[in-house]
Amino acid sequence: MRTTAAATIALVAAFAAGAAVLVYLVHRSAYDSVRSGARDELRSILLIEASTGARSLPAGHQTALAQIVDRSGRVVASSRSGDRQPMAHLRVRPGRISQAVRQHLPADPDPGPFLVVADAAAAPVPRGDVGYVAASLQTVNDAAAEAARAAWLVGTVFVGLTAGLMWFLIGRALRPVEAIRAEVADISDGQLERRVPVPASDDEIGRLALTMNAMLSRLDDAARRQRQFVADAAHELRSPLATMLSQLDVASRYPGMAPVEELAASLRCEALRLAAVLSDLSVLARGDEGRVGERFQLLDLDDIVLEEASRVSQRGRIAVDVGAVSAAQVRGNPAQLSRIVRNLLDNAERYAARRVVVSLRESAEQVVLQVADDGPGIPPADRERIFQRFVRLDSARERSSGGSGLGLAIVRQLVGGHGGTVEVEDNGGSGSRLVVRLPSAAGP
Ligand SMILES: Nc1ncnc2c1ncn2[C@@H]1O[C@H](COP(=O)(O)OP(=O)(O)OP(=O)(O)O)[C@@H](O)[C@H]1O
Ligand SMILES: [Mg+2]
Repeated sequence: MRTTAAATIALVAAFAAGAAVLVYLVHRSAYDSVRSGARDELRSILLIEASTGARSLPAGHQTALAQIVDRSGRVVASSRSGDRQPMAHLRVRPGRISQAVRQHLPADPDPGPFLVVADAAAAPVPRGDVGYVAASLQTVNDAAAEAARAAWLVGTVFVGLTAGLMWFLIGRALRPVEAIRAEVADISDGQLERRVPVPASDDEIGRLALTMNAMLSRLDDAARRQRQFVADAAHELRSPLATMLSQLDVASRYPGMAPVEELAASLRCEALRLAAVLSDLSVLARGDEGRVGERFQLLDLDDIVLEEASRVSQRGRIAVDVGAVSAAQVRGNPAQLSRIVRNLLDNAERYAARRVVVSLRESAEQVVLQVADDGPGIPPADRERIFQRFVRLDSARERSSGGSGLGLAIVRQLVGGHGGTVEVEDNGGSGSRLVVRLPSAAGP
């Protein structure tokens, strides 16, 4: 509606300007022809005057009235018989035609206005005689009015048709937009699998629909992942809680059956597992909010690696070889980088048979951290999957040391936040090797 109205207003303005120019041109050309006719007539009566010397005018000319007026203002010859009153008193200079417009001619019933042209008569006519010719301007006004009427008629029809056509075409062009809007308005949170209609045309609206659908499918995926995540998290929290509750039930039903210390130790173990899962979940949730890149600083990654490695060594279950750890600087968050290294080392420690080899080296552009163990290894088919949340390959869940399957998901998220990558690489057939690549602080 607005677009049509604006276009129509512009069209009307353009048309009115065009019509005004047209009417002006018609008026001017009609006026010019009347004036040149009057001048020709004037010239011819003055010529006849000069050649015959008679103060008389021939009848039957085209113009309204012709007069010869002498110096004292008396009409000495006229195209009308019995004419007494001069039609005008114009100051004339010989050879320069004077002109004026009069609304009425004396003693003339015809309606005005009239163009009056005048010039001095030439010898042998007595000096001071002036020839006048009046021509009606009625035709000029009529022509202009006719042009205005035609312009008005054509303009009204044209503008009306164009406005109607525009209304129709714009409406038709915008119909898909309305369809998209209605569909989007209809799609509530629960119906993200619905898609907006895509028009057949490959134009802005078609692309809008495609973009809208791409956005809907991303939202759909995100919502599905979110639901899956919440379900997995709930499941993960449920099992330690269920264990704790059943232990507490048994303890209250059969008091004194198990020593309090044993119960407390077992409850504490489950509570620690709960706390660990909660802490992992909160790390992931913070990452999901896009807050990974906060508080970055220049860091010696080798210091962090050595500190985490010595923590594992101290537990004494496994030997950690840090011989290949050399100095490497990165830009990052110290707590997050520690978390990355710790999660990798915890896995390696859990799965290694005897030893874990950690290496760190810095090239011009990147810092490469590798954690290799001599454990069962990771089958090639699972090397991408293990980075998903809550994915565990083995029966780790049953093991007392079993984790929740969030460790590598956290590693991937934090490494990604540092602009790096993490993947499982082949370890020559035995054990697994996880490789983290981070942009070097010395790099571009
Ligand atoms: N070094 C490794 N050797 C063999 N398998 C591994 C290794 N590291 C990880 N995996 C496999 O990948 C799975 C996912 O690892 P991830 O660290 O994400 O979870 P998790 O260790 O089970 O639990 P969490 O780290 O949350 O305590 C593990 O359950 C395990 O099956
Ligand atoms: Mg782990």
